[in-house]
Amino acid sequence: MSATNRSRVEALIRPDVFEFEEYIAVEPLEKLSERIGIPAAQIIKLDANENPYGAAPAALEAIRNEKFYHHYPDPTSLFLREELERYTGFDKARILVGSGSDELLELIIKLFITPGDQLIDLVPTFGMYAFLGQLYGAEVKSVERRPDDYSIDPKTVLAAIEERTKLIFVCSPNNPTANPCPVETLRLLLETGRMIVVDEAYYDFAGENFANLTNEYENLIVLRTFSKLSGLAGLRVGYGIFPLAVIKHLWKIKQPYNVTVAAQAAALASLKEKEWLEEHVAKIVTERERLFGLLKELDGLEPLPSVSNFIFCRVHTGDAYAIKLELEQRGIFIRYFNKPLLKNAFRISVGTPEQTTILMQQLRAILYN
Ligand SMILES: Cc1ncc(COP(=O)(O)O)c(C=O)c1O
Repeated sequence: MSATNRSRVEALIRPDVFEFEEYIAVEPLEKLSERIGIPAAQIIKLDANENPYGAAPAALEAIRNEKFYHHYPDPTSLFLREELERYTGFDKARILVGSGSDELLELIIKLFITPGDQLIDLVPTFGMYAFLGQLYGAEVKSVERRPDDYSIDPKTVLAAIEERTKLIFVCSPNNPTANPCPVETLRLLLETGRMIVVDEAYYDFAGENFANLTNEYENLIVLRTFSKLSGLAGLRVGYGIFPLAVIKHLWKIKQPYNVTVAAQAAALASLKEKEWLEEHVAKIVTERERLFGLLKELDGLEPLPSVSNFIFCRVHTGDAYAIKLELEQRGIFIRYFNKPLLKNAFRISVGTPEQTTILMQQLRAILYN
């Protein structure tokens, strides 16, 4: 809409935000259920990389037993940070908790970006980096990953860096392509001196992580979440391991009561259930390998190797969107992509063995009918 066609109120809105495209989040379960007329409990939701087993029992118990919902939460999330110190081995002074890692991403961008600064986005990747970057006036420079396996080509990234490049986001394992960033690549990026943000939302499923490098590099931030393995996506909790020089400024700009009482209690209890967490990582990883093998057997589909809790799958014969819609009618939800470098493809979260079996039956019925 041109500026002259805006109402008086619309004319007051920031012009850049007015022209923004909306961030498309996944549809909530109740909405999906209403739209397709299948009860929520019967829906197989494989579109948001959530934990199909739900939260650890101790986390649910902690929410039930909490007595102080009428008080504001601890702005420092102290008990949770103490438990995170034990869990991660990093000093709590370097740990900040957020309302999901999404909030931490936003805080980082607010802290580093003055409008006109540059942020490097290694596409295709998680959409929030570009979205938040634009919102805070960054010039978001998209550097493409290699088209065959979506690995990062360090030479292209180094060539893209300018004086005003402040931040580089590295999602590892990458969403939606499920591949990790090799440590040698990360080191090359760290050597540039730019602030490197490694988003480890899915590190539990990868068997390796980069947190130890934060002892070596003062320009590395590692972000994690309770939304995936811990099954607490609905409560919104994430944390980051930050350099001391950065975290002291983040404390100044965060909203005081950013993490709710329920979220702090549940996340803390969940960390104490190490065995439950490990058992569920193992289940999901085993199921991922089974799903990968089964998808590979289907003509026209090319699943890519995954070190995460989802599988990215190219569709070579047939229409990925039509397949997604057909699955929806049968109560199964997956994520469809049709963007540059992600043409005619979908991403399937790893579910329970029963969910995989139903998914595969329905996929076969759709593809071979
Ligand atoms: C790579 C990545 N980072 C961050 C997030 C957001 O996590 P949270 O729920 O902690 O905000 C997601 C969620 O899908 C994700 O895929």
